[in-house]
Amino acid sequence: MKLIDELRAEHDLIEQVALSLRTWARARAAGRAPAADLDGYLEFFRLYAGAFHHGREEDTLFVALEREAELPADRGPIAALLADHHAMAGLISEIETHAAAGAAAELEAAALAYSERLLHHIDAENSVLLPESGERLRRCAAPELPTRPPSPAEEAARGQGLRLVAAWPPVFEAAIMRGDGCVFCPAYADTCRGVEREWWNEWERDEAGDRLGEG
Ligand SMILES: [Fe+2]
Ligand SMILES: [Fe+2]
Repeated sequence: MKLIDELRAEHDLIEQVALSLRTWARARAAGRAPAADLDGYLEFFRLYAGAFHHGREEDTLFVALEREAELPADRGPIAALLADHHAMAGLISEIETHAAAGAAAELEAAALAYSERLLHHIDAENSVLLPESGERLRRCAAPELPTRPPSPAEEAARGQGLRLVAAWPPVFEAAIMRGDGCVFCPAYADTCRGVEREWWNEWERDEAGDRLGEG
C-alpha cells in the first residue's frame, strides 16, 4: 500500500529531526545555539510532521481502518495514537511559550519531552500500526488508499528539517528506551491493552466465538 510505504519513509526524516531538536535544545540551554533555529523546528514539526504526516494518518489511514477493516477508533491503537498527536501538538505550543518567555531550562525540558514522545510514537507506528494496517487492509480487500504530495509550505518545512539535521546532528542516546512492539509503547497497559487484545472487529469476534463453541 503506497500510503503506508510513504508514511514509513517520512518517519525516517521525522525521527532524524526529533533527534536533531534534542541536540539543538541542549546546545541552546548551554548558550551555544541561536534562538532563531527554533522557528525552523516549529515549522517542520507543525507543517511536515503535523499537517502533512499526521494529517494523512488521521484523515486517510485511521479512517480506512475504521470504515474498511471495521476496527475500533474509540479505544486501542488508533485512540492511543490520536491522543499522542494531540498531546504532541500541545507540547509544541509549550516549547513556543517557553521560548517567547526566554525560559531556557523549561524550553529544553519541553523540547526533550516532545522529542522523546515522538520517538516512541514512531517506534509504535513502525513496528505495530503500519505492519498491522497493511495486513488488515489486505484481508478486507480495501482499495488502494489515496495520498498526496506535500504542499509548497509543507515541502519548505521538509527543507527546514533537512537543514537542521545537518546543522545539529542527531546523537545516539542509550537512555531512551526504544524497541519494537506494544510493550515499548507508553500507552500499553495504560490506555491501550495492545493490538492483539484491541484489534478485533465484530465478525472476527463472532468467528472466534463459533470456533471456541465448536471445540
Ligand atoms: Fe502518528
Ligand atoms: Fe507517523
